[in-house]
Amino acid sequence: MKKRVFSGIQPTGDIHIGNYLGAIKQWVASQTEYEDIFCIVDLHAITVAQEPNTLKSKIREVAGLLFAAGIDPKITVVFIQSHISAHAELAWLLNCFIPMGWMNRMTQFKEKSHRQREQVSVGLFDYPALMAADILLYEADLVPVGEDQRQHVELTRDVSQRFNSIYGETFKIPEALIPQFGARVMGLDDPTQKMSKSEPGSGHAINLLDTPDVIRAKVMRATTDSQREVCFDESRPGIYNLLGIYEGFTGLGRPEIESRFVGKGYVDLKKELAEVVVAGLSPLQSRYRELTREPGYIDSLLNEGADRVRPVAEETLAKVKQQIGLG
Ligand code: AMP
Ligand code: TRP
Repeated sequence: MKKRVFSGIQPTGDIHIGNYLGAIKQWVASQTEYEDIFCIVDLHAITVAQEPNTLKSKIREVAGLLFAAGIDPKITVVFIQSHISAHAELAWLLNCFIPMGWMNRMTQFKEKSHRQREQVSVGLFDYPALMAADILLYEADLVPVGEDQRQHVELTRDVSQRFNSIYGETFKIPEALIPQFGARVMGLDDPTQKMSKSEPGSGHAINLLDTPDVIRAKVMRATTDSQREVCFDESRPGIYNLLGIYEGFTGLGRPEIESRFVGKGYVDLKKELAEVVVAGLSPLQSRYRELTREPGYIDSLLNEGADRVRPVAEETLAKVKQQIGLG
């Protein structure tokens, strides 16, 4: 039997090459080997303020980009989290089995809440419980995510083990699947910060729907350092990041990439990298335009996706409620 893979993506901001290299590309590649379920996590999105019309259109945009990137709706399920009410319900149940101490250790909450202080929502604090519910409902074996989500998957493992030890075997214990390359694409403007959808700066991220000229301009402006040699050197984060992106898009080995740039400088690397990214995104962008031409097509794929997996989620939820003694 194929192992089951579950992952989620937030329908907020613009999907960028960090999402693509760190997540979406691995999802596409895994479709033949695994049974894949991908969830557009709109309930996670509302842990911070969202404008309703923007949220609605972003959900379709993200779905369209997933299909355009090569997710095949005939074999892989893509659905919207809020279409299956078991997610919110199981999150509540898990809340009652997660000690505050575990949640207080979540570094992503600390980072995200820093800016909002007392205005931060309870939902943002509780975000990892909802993520645990997402994963556990489908008895996922593997959870492909970027490095930043490792701690949340660990919490999912901890809560499922805790529940199982109290009530007996109920949940399957999932494992994180962190890609070796592209696990952490950094911002072009500041290579010490992770490339992020919430960063407003126009030179920060390359978005999947950026035009070739915008991509070229962003790459050429990317922050580097005053050295010359083009090589994978972690102590030079700017150049290391650009080479990592090059590696992610070309699939070439590091020695081969370095040998291409012997005797060349940063400008040569940037020029070549820009073309590599433009060419890498071009097929995706044209498929996206095709998919969105027919109104309602993406919605129909999302509805079918939810219909396919809802029974699985409902069965898990029913089992959990029964174990606890509810109802
Ligand atoms: P998010 O943008 O937080 O919704 O993340 C969606 C997926 O992309 C998750 O699996 C993240 O771990 C991954 N991801 C987000 N930003 C990056 C990045 N800069 N580098 C690599 N992976 C990322
Ligand atoms: N928290 C993840 C992120 O921001 C998205 C997510 C929600 C997710 N539920 C999930 C990822 C379940 C994997 C599995 O990237």
